[in-house]
Amino acid sequence: MQPSRYHLALRSLHWVCAVLLIIGLVMGTFVLDKTPNSSPEKINALRGHMIFGVLILVLTVIRLIVRLRSTHPKPVFTGIALADRFAPLMHWGLYTLIFVIAVSGIGIAALTGLPEIVFAGDGILPTDFKDLPPRAVHGVVAKLLMLAIALHVIAALFHQFVRKDRLLSRMGFGK
Ligand code: HEM
Ligand code: HEM
Repeated sequence: MQPSRYHLALRSLHWVCAVLLIIGLVMGTFVLDKTPNSSPEKINALRGHMIFGVLILVLTVIRLIVRLRSTHPKPVFTGIALADRFAPLMHWGLYTLIFVIAVSGIGIAALTGLPEIVFAGDGILPTDFKDLPPRAVHGVVAKLLMLAIALHVIAALFHQFVRKDRLLSRMGFGK
């Protein structure tokens, strides 16, 4: 039988990852990207960002495994054909964007020896990261992820308050 809401682990990971991702996107855009590599603050900003990013990646891998191994509630339809077809694509799209942003971040780190510089104090930062292909991917995917999250939240609120189908309870913890 299909449950009325997602697996407890999936619900917990959804909200923990949502908070971590929003903090990662905001700090990446407004702090990390705005701090020049010559600034003494940069290493600390990078350290926090890298730990956050890798944590998000690990939690997303666990989440994907739980998602693939658990049963989910049956899909909720809005009656709007395009939106109904788009919903599962959007969920898999969100997973894909999270993987691409994390892996491209690791790509920037690998190309510039960031783990040694940031965590062992061994070496110096490049003048900036802008010319690196994974850096370009990271920046574009950050914008796409913000857009996808905004659409996802609008869709969830539309279900909850316009369709009044209690969609949020499928991801919630109440009775
Ligand atoms: C900020 C980053 C967010 C990401 C990356 C995200 C991602 C996802 C994904 C991938 C799913 C599919 C189920 C799963 O595999 O866990 C999902 C479901 C859901 N999300 Fe989010 N979410 C985010 C934030 C939010 C927010 C802020 C809300 C509430 C306004 C929300 C409400 C929901 C609801 C209600 C579902 C269940 C949809 C259904 O039953 O079909 N999400 N989310
Ligand atoms: C998984 C979640 C992650 C998110 C949401 C995220 C988000 C961001 C954002 C929004 C930016 C600024 C992009 C821009 O405005 O163009 C950024 C830059 C950056 N991120 Fe991430 N990131 C993540 C993971 C990682 C990881 C795992 C690493 C490395 C291990 C990393 C390393 C970097 C670096 C080196 C920059 C460039 C900073 C600069 O150009 O000065 N990121 N990230």
